[in-house]
Amino acid sequence: MWRKCSNDIKQDNKDNMSKYIVEDPRKVTTHRFIEMKRKGEKIAMLTAYDYTTAMLIDEAGVDAILVGDSASNVMAGNVTTLPITLDQMIYHAKSVVRGVKRALVVVDMPFGTYQVNADEAVKNAIRIMKESHADALKLEGGEEILPSVRKILDAGIPIMGHLGLTPQSINKFGTYSVRAKDEAEAAKLRSDARLLQEAGCFALVLEKIPAALGTAVAQELDIPVIGIGAGGNVDGQVLVYADMLGMTADFTPRFLRRYADLHTVITDAVGNYVGDVKACDFPNEKEQY
Ligand code: KIV
Repeated sequence: MWRKCSNDIKQDNKDNMSKYIVEDPRKVTTHRFIEMKRKGEKIAMLTAYDYTTAMLIDEAGVDAILVGDSASNVMAGNVTTLPITLDQMIYHAKSVVRGVKRALVVVDMPFGTYQVNADEAVKNAIRIMKESHADALKLEGGEEILPSVRKILDAGIPIMGHLGLTPQSINKFGTYSVRAKDEAEAAKLRSDARLLQEAGCFALVLEKIPAALGTAVAQELDIPVIGIGAGGNVDGQVLVYADMLGMTADFTPRFLRRYADLHTVITDAVGNYVGDVKACDFPNEKEQY
């Protein structure tokens, strides 16, 4: 299938004198997501957990912002995503929604809020939507969570699936290494992907799987497949913003490309500030009343 890649779009935008790659300035909807796949337009998605970051990321032209439960790691310093609560996710989601004009805002349902039964899942899903004003939810898992997925969809709430490495199951996996390398796990993933599409999910995240499997699933499905470590032949990409901006210097998976070195930028700037304060050079006469 023909795909509109960034070089074509960059050229279009040069002609329009636009600084960032925004093809369509209207608010992104789940409907538009599926249209983007149909037209072969790649989807760019990043995480955000707070108002200011969401505002910057939205302004720069991402199509979707994921209020990921990776907030548990990035914002709270936990080792896994498991401890983050429903209230904490709603707090992050509300903050992000306030900063966003265009991007589709998707919120992760945190661990324990949709696995017990479908009734509890839909109650928690409705709470997130009602209180955060986000656009959609993301749930990790396949066949085993289908009753919850169906009930939430029946309530009119769009769902993005998530298969492959699903960090809420880290204690079952025991490692963050590449998933679905063997045939049995790959076959289960393909079957789960089809089930999620049939249930009515509008998109699917595939995390840390062989690129060939990512390609196959993206070709099999009509809904867009957003990859993180799933190769370049899927319909879009998602990264954790703190990783791609180089804030997390010690996280170096193969799939990560760093677009800035904010670790150095921030520590240098703060170091300069500390030096200026200690040297009685800040504030100067112009910086006081
Ligand atoms: O929580 C998160 O950031 C995610 C992405 C890694 C897809 O689920």
